[in-house]
Amino acid sequence: MEDSNRSANPSLHQVSDPARRVLLRGAAGASAAALLAPAAGALGGCATPTDPAIASLGRRIGFASVPMPASATDTLTVPPGYTASVLYRWGDPVGVPGAMPAFAPDASNSAAEQALQAGMHHDGMHYFAIEGSSRRGLLALNHEYTDDGLLHPQGMAIWGPEQVAKSIAAHGVSIAEVERKAPGNGWQLARASRYARRITAATPCTIAGPAAGHPLLRTNADPGGTRVLGTLNNCAHGVTPWGTYLSCEENFVFYFEGPVRPDTHQRRWGLQAGGGFFRWHEHEKRFDARLEPNEFNRFGWVVEIDPFDPQSTPIKRTALGRAAHEGAATGQTDDGRVVVYMGEDARFEYIYKFVSRDAVRRGGFKANRELLNHGTLYVAKFEADGSGRWLPLVHGQGPLTAAHGFADQGEVLVKTRQASDLLGATKMDRAEWTAIDPINKEIYVTLTNNSQRGASGQPAVDAANPRAYNTMGHILRWREDGDLDATRFAWTHFVLAGDPANARPGARGNIRGDIFGSPDGLWVDPRGVLWIGTDVSPTALGKGDYARLPNNQMLACDPSTAAAEGGPDIRRFLVGPAGSEVTGSVMTPDLRTLFVNIQHPGESPSERADPANPSRISNWPDGGRPRSATVVITKDDGGVIGS
Ligand code: FEO
Ligand code: CA
Ligand code: CA
Repeated sequence: MEDSNRSANPSLHQVSDPARRVLLRGAAGASAAALLAPAAGALGGCATPTDPAIASLGRRIGFASVPMPASATDTLTVPPGYTASVLYRWGDPVGVPGAMPAFAPDASNSAAEQALQAGMHHDGMHYFAIEGSSRRGLLALNHEYTDDGLLHPQGMAIWGPEQVAKSIAAHGVSIAEVERKAPGNGWQLARASRYARRITAATPCTIAGPAAGHPLLRTNADPGGTRVLGTLNNCAHGVTPWGTYLSCEENFVFYFEGPVRPDTHQRRWGLQAGGGFFRWHEHEKRFDARLEPNEFNRFGWVVEIDPFDPQSTPIKRTALGRAAHEGAATGQTDDGRVVVYMGEDARFEYIYKFVSRDAVRRGGFKANRELLNHGTLYVAKFEADGSGRWLPLVHGQGPLTAAHGFADQGEVLVKTRQASDLLGATKMDRAEWTAIDPINKEIYVTLTNNSQRGASGQPAVDAANPRAYNTMGHILRWREDGDLDATRFAWTHFVLAGDPANARPGARGNIRGDIFGSPDGLWVDPRGVLWIGTDVSPTALGKGDYARLPNNQMLACDPSTAAAEGGPDIRRFLVGPAGSEVTGSVMTPDLRTLFVNIQHPGESPSERADPANPSRISNWPDGGRPRSATVVITKDDGGVIGS
């Protein structure tokens, strides 16, 4: 876990009585929010249902919770009346015409074959309907990272250029065409498909926006600083109003080998000697920051991909800032500008918002290909009274000047963390996904956990992050002061995760309903139901504060129940197989099919499987090697998911 924020900007409003402060934030936040005028308007990436049958359901949840399993099992469980089937596993051919190598169960596929198959560790995902269809569309999904113990027949015991190339090929993004051919749960990949595509950590990408061509982005291979090979550690995602996919580069630091004495900038981003966990630098010199220091600056961006054009070049959008990016939830202001909310998942890092300069135009990607290059990036500051401010990361404003080490806006964007430190932004407990309620424009963020909060030498609790040794995580909610481009907001704790039976008060939380911890995946469906995926690490699952919790899970919540009934009513919809994380999820426009990504079944605490026994923890879904997979879930009566 990256933990690099040693900045002296204070955790303001530190409190001595976190339990009391939590209650205050629940009440004060709600009343502050009530003072703000409700906003309405179109949102990108989702739309409120036009089907009267769906609209009449409102946010109501009707399924029976998946009961707490008596013991952890290596299966995927959904409520009675639902069927789940596996659609797209690591190693399945994506469907490139004439190039569809079958998965080799002993992991003997070559790097070239892997580049035509599903990568590992599925994460963020969107369904792009073809002509509005709920029976045919494109799934765009991330392949976050690799377990190289599982990826190669001998794990990492043999480590050469071919193994590195295969690891690189198992990263990135898939564009897969899917179709529903039969009634019931009849989804399958459409293969071959003219849309089928794999983007990997070697695919050429363009760097665009204010930092494009910046001296900090120039390398020997790319002296212009505008072309980079690949995208990696693609975690959560977003969708633009013009129909493109946003993929977020998260923990990029672990791909780079750093110097023994990293400089101030490198240290602030966690670069260190021995830090190249993936060992790519041994055979791909651009990942050795001692030889090519600026390659490191070319990762950590939000990447825009046009899923409908397999020849298109992915574009790294520097105007949105550089971070260990997690999520890029998009909305629109009433006058049509796009707003992107982004968390940074590292301990004590920040939450960001980008507001475009221009309004979205008709005409799809072609008409909007410059839109994410111009706008204002902000970082969040949460005040103790339930208010908050968005602080602009604009060169020349406040301390963001040459005197403080920022030559220009490009440098502010490459060094987003340092700029946010100077502005006194609030250090958060690992912000994961962001989500926007399409009905009332309230915004949510998961703070997954932070065991270092309040530890010796680390930031103390504050109003927004109220629990020391925060093993269970929480979800914040806020409402902008007017439209989504506002610079002030009112926030509250939506829920503190935990288990009320825990001996330790700080791990009990205030959930009313099914218990969970380490919230991560998050989205609000078009009828306003909030879906939460969890990512309890394999080191914590089933032990300590998590002793009574199941495998990682997905839960549904009607957020309108929160204020009236003493806390949100949260119900367990899915429990994943052993060692897995439940990540990206999305529905078809008719809300009758749910796609869910199950990431890293069988993951061990080291994040590396034993190649001598790769199925020791899990053999989901088919026996043999565990395989991350997209699962498709339908209701047996053909109804709306969750109703
Ligand atoms: Fe890749 Fe922060 O989850
Ligand atoms: Ca995540
Ligand atoms: Ca996580």
